[in-house]
Amino acid sequence: MKDGGQREYGPLGATLVIIPTYNEAENVKPITARVRTAVPEAHILVADDNSPDGTGKLADELAAEDDHIHVLHRKGKEGLGAAYLAGFRWGIENGYGVLVEMDADGSHKPEELPRLLTALKGADLVLGSRWVPGGRVVNWPKSREFISRGGSLYSRLMLDVPIRDVTGGFRAFRKETLEGLGLADVASQGYCFQVDLARRAVKAGFHVVEVPITFVERELGDSKMSRDILVEALWRVTAWGVTERTGKVLGRGKSR
Ligand code: GDD
Ligand code: MN
Repeated sequence: MKDGGQREYGPLGATLVIIPTYNEAENVKPITARVRTAVPEAHILVADDNSPDGTGKLADELAAEDDHIHVLHRKGKEGLGAAYLAGFRWGIENGYGVLVEMDADGSHKPEELPRLLTALKGADLVLGSRWVPGGRVVNWPKSREFISRGGSLYSRLMLDVPIRDVTGGFRAFRKETLEGLGLADVASQGYCFQVDLARRAVKAGFHVVEVPITFVERELGDSKMSRDILVEALWRVTAWGVTERTGKVLGRGKSR
């Protein structure tokens, strides 16, 4: 049933756009406003890690004025992965059928979200992709593009997943897809969380579609990309790849 072929896909349920934030005070209002305009029927969940710059309080003020905006306050900075896992849980508990991942800083254009949601009508998971024809990146230094393209290539080869942009963070999941990924044992904290979910979706046999996007580097605030995030990604991807290959060689089939 999960194979990408001719199967029928159920109707899309209500949409929740999850926006993780850590020190995004300049960005939280503009991004929520753009989402509200681009996809008026969708709801928004800001998942804030107790940002020292007051992002959480600003989000509360927005939520007080708009019943489509919700805020999940978390104790402290625990990484993108933990924030999304909590956001997914909140969304599923509250009855949403489509869960969207989107950065707060404007790099993912809310105006492109309708295209992702349209593609989800015939898929289990849609990935906004910088590295397929038609996709692109605006204002990234060459060094950052090299890291991202290199990371995607390394993950693709290591994990044997046919995805061009495996680290991207602009995605639309059906609820049923998330429920089929075994999220309870996800340990990834930083951006490798994205690789982890993509790899799980492919291994579980879900139909994953990449849709080209234009990624625009943020103008306000700072990226949270760090050496630690890179190192975590490198060791986890390597460990997953090695475990998988060993499993195959020993004839144990798939591994998680
Ligand atoms: N709650 C929470 N906790 N949010 C976080 C944390 C955290 O620990 N770390 C980052 N975020 C939020 C940021 O506030 C932002 O909304 C989003 O996650 C992305 O963070 P950025 O720091 O802007 O990421 P980037 O632009 O460097 O990285 C982009 O590329 C990565 C690699 O391709 C994004 O598209 C990532 O999603 C992607 O994995
Ligand atoms: Mn960013």
